[in-house]
Amino acid sequence: DLVLKDAASDFFIGTIVQANRLTGQYDVVMQREFSSITAEYQMKMDIMYPNQGVYDWTASDAIVNYAVDNGFNLHGHALIWHNATPEWVRNFSGSDTEFEAMVKDYIKTVVGRYKGKVTSWDVVNEAFNDGSGSYRNSVFYQRLGEDYISKCFQWAREADQDVLLFYNDYNMCNDQTKQNAVFSMIDELISDGVSVNGVGFQMHISYNGPAKENIMAASNRIVERGLKVHFAELDIRANPDNNMSELTSVRALAQKEKYKEVAAIYNSLPASNKYALTIWGLKDDESWLLDFYGHQDWPLLFDMHFNKKDAYYGVLEGLLQK
Ligand code: G3I
Repeated sequence: DLVLKDAASDFFIGTIVQANRLTGQYDVVMQREFSSITAEYQMKMDIMYPNQGVYDWTASDAIVNYAVDNGFNLHGHALIWHNATPEWVRNFSGSDTEFEAMVKDYIKTVVGRYKGKVTSWDVVNEAFNDGSGSYRNSVFYQRLGEDYISKCFQWAREADQDVLLFYNDYNMCNDQTKQNAVFSMIDELISDGVSVNGVGFQMHISYNGPAKENIMAASNRIVERGLKVHFAELDIRANPDNNMSELTSVRALAQKEKYKEVAAIYNSLPASNKYALTIWGLKDDESWLLDFYGHQDWPLLFDMHFNKKDAYYGVLEGLLQK
């Protein structure tokens, strides 16, 4: 049978991993279908740098070694994210100068450690507030000011001349205000000569939206800047309104059609602007969405027994669509 990574002929098709899910059926399905992996949470600051001056590379090294040993592309997620910032960083007691030195050292240590193994990094994730052009008031914004994003990209570049550097965010296809703020920031980086290679759209969407036209228009804002597009965290809720206790065949087919539409959009991008389409989970029962929304959903390509769902064939058909 044709598999996803063969259908994704000129870009990576990815999924997410955790260090304790690299064997057995996880390994079988990942090796068979996918060409790229992203750490779901174990390559974030709160896990790798839990205490000042003390790194914990246990999980991140396991994931990096798995990627290298098995020939997977590895997307680094995420150097700077307000939701994965260790307590000691959020309550940093030193001066702004010492804070800047600490962040610079962290970025250069992590990017340097995985140079040649990690192809790309989300340097900054989710820097803007929903529905507004304002910066989230993260400790990075507070302590380093508006150009913290620029500084983080520069430090990452200094540590690895070849790694692809991404900005990553969510609701980029349906929050026009946030989308405008992101691209204004990207344009500032570009005009300041800061090395940025791509933008990640998380793509946590639903079977009934955002509309195809919005996804295409948003993606084109990356393409027209000559940057790479990463559909970085794709999952498609089948039960956004929490009105189902099981996945009906009607809703499963609607979800399939949305996966097919998104895969076809990605596949239609110019080759030079493609990087990866990454699904944010392998099997339905392990999706972050279940805890986040607190109700049943079936957002991914495989069911809890690693069986292919209609959604899987939606991605396959979307990738094969000419
Ligand atoms: O598995 C461990 C468990 O052994 C331990 O006892 C427990 C308590 O420490 O933690 C468990 O790990 C949790 C993990 O999810 C389980 O999957 C981590 O604490 C928890 O922080 C982690 O949450 C992740 C979250 O980002 C924060 O890092 C989610 O998995 C992950 O899906 C979510 O992904 C984010 C993207 O990075 C950015 N975009 C939004 C997306 C969804 O929030």
